[in-house]
Amino acid sequence: MQGMKNPFLVGEKIYLRPLERDGAPTLLPWVNDPDVIANLIMYTPKNLQSELEFIERAYKSDTEIILGIALKADDKLIGTTGLHRIDWKNRNCLFGILIGDKTEWGKGYGAETTHLMVSYAFETLGMHRVWLHVYEYNHRGIRAYEKAGFVREGVLRQARYHNGEFYDVIVMGLLRSEWEARRHTTL
Ligand SMILES: CC(C)(COP(=O)(O)OP(=O)(O)OC[C@H]1O[C@@H](n2cnc3c(N)ncnc32)[C@H](O)[C@@H]1OP(=O)(O)O)[C@@H](O)C(=O)NCCC(=O)NCCS
Repeated sequence: MQGMKNPFLVGEKIYLRPLERDGAPTLLPWVNDPDVIANLIMYTPKNLQSELEFIERAYKSDTEIILGIALKADDKLIGTTGLHRIDWKNRNCLFGILIGDKTEWGKGYGAETTHLMVSYAFETLGMHRVWLHVYEYNHRGIRAYEKAGFVREGVLRQARYHNGEFYDVIVMGLLRSEWEARRHTTL
């Protein structure tokens, strides 16, 4: 195992680190990959400049915390994750995750990242609720969020248009009390 590069939150198999500008070329193919963006709100073409701007912008905002997801074993950057729309008054925020390296899907990294980020939201930022939207066909995502403790709160009917069809958007949330009740359980 090599030394971790600037770790911010450390898990078992992955760690989360601030994104650097030299990570932009790694991010770029992920955000133009149809299999990845099928699950994201974002859909427009991206170039190196847009990725550099995303990285720059992320570290200027006080309503957003963005980190890269790296493997502890070889230090490889496999995705990004964030707490967005941090609402300091109502103490809630939106959780987002993108594992862009498809060869790394389904290995538990999504659930582990989710667990690290929600723990940080509750423990360090003092959040009361973390929420997210996920498309009904994103079974892998829904399962990863459920493993980290999220529950289904509701449905936005046919709010997603994708490849010629409308799909439901599932609203999921995790309350501080629910997280406290299960924080020491394994994923
Ligand atoms: C969604 C995402 C974050 C999940 O991360 P991941 O590391 O692939 O997921 P995990 O391995 O932690 O968990 C996936 C779970 O779903 C299960 N799963 C995988 N494919 C599935 C399918 N087709 N149907 C049902 N469950 C499935 C896995 O078996 C695993 O559950 P288990 O541990 O109980 O067996 C990741 O795949 C990703 O970034 N995808 C592209 C972008 C995206 O969807 N972002 C989220 C937008 S809301």
